[in-house]
Amino acid sequence: MMQNKRPRVDGGRGALNNGPMHARPLVALLDGRDCSIEMPILKDVATVAFCDAQSTAEIHEKVLNEAVGALMWHTITLTKEDLEKFKALRIIVRIGSGVDNIDVKAAGELGIAVCNVPGYGVEEVADTTMCLILNLYRRTYWLANMVRDGKKFTGPEQQVREAAQGCARIRGDTLGIVGLGRIGSAVALRAKAFGFNVIFYDPYLPDGIEKSLGVTRVYTLQDLLFQSDCVSLHCTLNEHNHHLINEYTLKQMRPGAFLVNTARGGLVDEAALAAALREGRIRSAALDVHENEPFNVFQGPLKDAPNLICTPHAAFYSDASCTELREMAASEIRRAIVGRIPDSLRNCVNKEYFMGGSSGSGGAGFPEGLNGSYYAAAAAAAAAAGGAGAALQAAHSTTDRLTTSESGNQPPPLPHARNYFPIQGDMTLHRSKAMKICTNVCLRECHNNSLEMERCFEPGETNV
Ligand SMILES: NC(=O)c1ccc[n+]([C@@H]2O[C@H](COP(=O)([O-])OP(=O)(O)OC[C@H]3O[C@@H](n4cnc5c(N)ncnc54)[C@H](O)[C@@H]3O)[C@@H](O)[C@H]2O)c1
Repeated sequence: MMQNKRPRVDGGRGALNNGPMHARPLVALLDGRDCSIEMPILKDVATVAFCDAQSTAEIHEKVLNEAVGALMWHTITLTKEDLEKFKALRIIVRIGSGVDNIDVKAAGELGIAVCNVPGYGVEEVADTTMCLILNLYRRTYWLANMVRDGKKFTGPEQQVREAAQGCARIRGDTLGIVGLGRIGSAVALRAKAFGFNVIFYDPYLPDGIEKSLGVTRVYTLQDLLFQSDCVSLHCTLNEHNHHLINEYTLKQMRPGAFLVNTARGGLVDEAALAAALREGRIRSAALDVHENEPFNVFQGPLKDAPNLICTPHAAFYSDASCTELREMAASEIRRAIVGRIPDSLRNCVNKEYFMGGSSGSGGAGFPEGLNGSYYAAAAAAAAAAGGAGAALQAAHSTTDRLTTSESGNQPPPLPHARNYFPIQGDMTLHRSKAMKICTNVCLRECHNNSLEMERCFEPGETNV
């Protein structure tokens, strides 16, 4: 039983009026311009716009008033006040895994589902983490820079004394992982192959995970810091762990230990880290994420810190992972449009706000899909074929997306899509049905007396 279960909140979202709906829901990419991957997945069910904004002050009124779905990277932050500006919003999908730049609780209270894409870049982040750890141990980054800067190496003695000093052996050292989730465990598996003795601290995991992965568990952060030669952060940033690594905890680390952070910048007090690097208490550190992003190496407390490698929050990136990420994010929006919130969503992080009744019951007071018709249509079809279980499966199916991306052409219209977003010829035919859907479950404002038709925008055409 969920403790913080709440009744469905429709207050901020507007009443479900009788009357016809807008022809197509509006989905907006808030902090970017390129919708070339998202468009083929969404264009048969939504109008897609981009805002290219860094704050909600830069977002066009049309989006604030009408967008039912939002896609966002991590360059914009949505506080409670920001969220309240959106009058029709039902779903936000973070194009990434961290949702720390969204007030998830406030979104839930406003009836806005927040989703993320958790799995897309696990291997990339884990590989980057290993790359950074190896650089700290083997000093490859600094050695390569010396060569590039024209430094002459006259013999092994000079190399050892001046250049490669500090290079350390990995085998037998202890790597301490803070947060053994998807990325943390992928790092643990890789680190073992390099000969690290791997320990981890994660108070939220049940006992036994250490046995599955063959690593050692410690039960306090202090223990982990005390035992580790290298500490790597892989926990989510939340209200409990801001500046988890601070002046006090840095002093609990072994003298001369390494620190790596590919998780979130807010986990590390950068001023305290800079001091520890200057004093040599931390031998070297590698940060892919920063307290203020985009990171500027010429500003802030880390400006002149020695023995530091900084990368620009790029650990997740590979061409493949980025494509996968954007496809997965757009598909989640699509599921919200053609399906039902939250049942059809794969990765809703504030589901508890929408669990006001039994799944798939269609009971009053539930958030529906942005469309609402699909679930009913899918459920009816599936129920005829195989009962309620099949209905749920149908609502969770990915074949709609695969059809879209694999065909390369406009996908064949799904029955529900035709009902809700009638193409020109079908408009009259489906009008009464669409009005009925609208009366019952349409989640958008319905103030016109006629169905509006909007043409399908191509990328770049709808800069609102
Ligand atoms: N640098 C990048 O490009 C990039 C890309 C993706 C994810 N990330 C970040 O990597 C981190 C891990 O992502 P993930 O997908 O593995 O997340 P995850 O949710 O799978 O794992 C996070 C783990 O951290 C644990 N945790 C939470 N608070 C903790 C604390 N105070 N102490 C110890 N453990 C704690 C949780 O129990 C969970 O097991 C996140 O911060 C995410 O934002 C960074």
